[in-house]
Amino acid sequence: MKIAVLKETRSGETRVAATPETVKKYASLGAGIVVQTGAGEAALFSDEAYKEAGAEISPSAADAAQNADLILKVAAPSSEELRTIGRGSKLIAILSPLNDPDSVGAYARLGVDAMAMDFMPRITRAQSMDVLSSQSNLAGYKAVIDAAAYYGRALPMMMTAAGTIAAARVFVMGAGVAGLQAIATARRLGAVVSGTDVRFAAKEQVESLGATFVTVDEDAMKEAETEGGYAKEMSEDFQKRQAEFVAEHIKKQDVVITTALIPGRPAPKLVSADMVRAMKPGSVIVDLAVEAGGNVELSRPGEAIETGGVTILGFKNVPGRLASDASSLYARNVYNFISAFYNNDTNEFVADPEDAIIKGVLLTRDGAIVHPAFEEVKTTPEAPIDTPASEQADQETPADTASDEEAEQPEIQSPPKE
Ligand code: NAI
Repeated sequence: MKIAVLKETRSGETRVAATPETVKKYASLGAGIVVQTGAGEAALFSDEAYKEAGAEISPSAADAAQNADLILKVAAPSSEELRTIGRGSKLIAILSPLNDPDSVGAYARLGVDAMAMDFMPRITRAQSMDVLSSQSNLAGYKAVIDAAAYYGRALPMMMTAAGTIAAARVFVMGAGVAGLQAIATARRLGAVVSGTDVRFAAKEQVESLGATFVTVDEDAMKEAETEGGYAKEMSEDFQKRQAEFVAEHIKKQDVVITTALIPGRPAPKLVSADMVRAMKPGSVIVDLAVEAGGNVELSRPGEAIETGGVTILGFKNVPGRLASDASSLYARNVYNFISAFYNNDTNEFVADPEDAIIKGVLLTRDGAIVHPAFEEVKTTPEAPIDTPASEQADQETPADTASDEEAEQPEIQSPPKE
């Protein structure tokens, strides 16, 4: 079996789908691995390291993908990349198909069996393959580090001979994987932390990390969780009361980190322009939901803006800002997935369509759309391949065209016009 690891082409994508560590593991399974030259560069993995681990280095994506059984990527392929992937190959990546349902039609038409790692079911057996968790965890940590870097004061209380500095107040909205890691990180840095969520289960988790849980309506929260553990969209009445409460709470905060997402829906708007205006100058807001539409009215994807003395950070691909660690975890998620379906006798990856994991991630098979979430795409005869998988959801913004260095430390810009 041949596994190809392609270099990411999407602007700002620093991660890579396999590391020298996982290449070694694939080799010991009996697979042959080809890595496109420079694939690991932005994540600090050299061609040399891949070679030492047992990979062959290939000069181009087309060369690497030729006759490959499995194509490993981080982001969904562009239309150009998709054309390099041969009929019958299996593509494994964070495909974000809900952002671009037409891409699923393109995979089917080109005969690529597409598997979306971001659709991994949240069952015990698949925990080690859960890319949303591994990447959100790092994003939650990095959000606090980014906030601390832009905040002009210290986070912990400091008692010095010259007097005492008060601890910063950090408010985390959305206490899923990213939010809980943000709470834990802010606590470790000595801040006074509060958190909120619409799911009742989150209350105990927030409190167990030593933060205060704040909410408007515990009873409504008991109805807010889907069977899969995700949040539902809340009623208008709840949203109104939540907004009133947040407006009061936020005035007293120094740092606000928002992480709230609803699968398949735009992110809920939790922080309005008026709320931002009511915050103290020097405060920092990090909107981790910015790529899903944003939790903060004024945040802009890929930008750091300042308005009325408040900095709003809207970094895209926050896990990619910790490229090496994010790649190591993602690569292990992918290896755990592949090895679970690897047949050692025949040296093949066998995607059993009856298995709950395969049912969750498999979008297309043998030229047909097989995932129930995309049934309506089936009836679209000509989903255009020229509006590719990744590019539609990832329209270029000014920040996309910045160099990597600029993306790391964006200029503070003027606030958007309201
Ligand atoms: P997510 O990334 O979909 O959303 C982030 C958080 O935002 C969630 O906690 C959600 O409840 C919250 N949220 C949504 N709307 C909100 C609003 N209007 N106001 C405040 N908060 C709002 O969630 P994530 O991190 O993927 O976790 C979802 C669930 O999955 C959690 O219950 C988590 O514990 C569970 N999980 C289960 C795993 C497993 O393998 N069994 C692995 C990882 C997470």
